[in-house]
Amino acid sequence: MGWTRFNYLYEIYRRVETMNVLIIYKSYHRMNTEKVAKAITETMNATLRKVEDVKPEDLSGYDLIGFGSGIYGGKHHQALFTLVENLPQMEKNVFIFSTSGSPMEKYDQALNEKLIGKGCRILGVFRCPGEAGWWIAVKNKGHPDDQDLENARVFAKGLMST
Ligand SMILES: Cc1cc2nc3c(=O)[nH]c(=O)nc-3n(C[C@H](O)[C@H](O)[C@H](O)COP(=O)(O)O)c2cc1C
Repeated sequence: MGWTRFNYLYEIYRRVETMNVLIIYKSYHRMNTEKVAKAITETMNATLRKVEDVKPEDLSGYDLIGFGSGIYGGKHHQALFTLVENLPQMEKNVFIFSTSGSPMEKYDQALNEKLIGKGCRILGVFRCPGEAGWWIAVKNKGHPDDQDLENARVFAKGLMST
C-alpha cells in the first residue's frame, strides 16, 4: 500500500474515532431501511436510534446526523418531519438516506428543504431500492441486497472523508 492510500485510510480512521455521529431512522414496511441504517452505523461507528426514541435535545452532542426512512407516498416518514420541525435552528452537518420502490431524486426534496430551513448543511444523500409489496405485486425482491449494503458503506466512508 502506497503512502497516499495509507494517509487517506488513516484520515478516515481518525475521523471515525473522533467524530460523534448519530443515525436516526424509521423503518416498518419490510425493515429495509433498518438494514441500510445498520450498515451505515457500523461503518461510521455511530449511534443508532429509532426516530420514536429521539427527543430534539438528544441531537446537541453530535457532529454529524443521518436521517433515514422508507419512502411512503413520495416522501420520508412523517415522524422524521415531526422531529425536524421540533428542532431549534442549528448549524449541523447532516445527511439523508432512504429505501424505496423507485429511488428518485424528487423524494428527497421535502426532507432536504426542512433540514436546510433549520440551518443544517446537507453533506450527502443515499437512495437505495427497497422491496415493496402490495397484495400480489412485489417490487425489488431481495433489496436491499449485499451490493446495496456495500454501496451504503461506501457512501458512509465518503462522508467521513469530506
Ligand atoms: C404505505 C407505503 C407507501 C409507499 N410509497 C412509495 C412511494 O411513493 N414511492 C416508492 O418508490 N415506494 C413507495 N413505497 C415502497 C417503500 O418505500 C419501500 O418498500 C421501502 O423500502 C420501505 O422501507 P421500510 O421497509 O424501511 O419501511 C411505499 C410503501 C408503503 C408501505
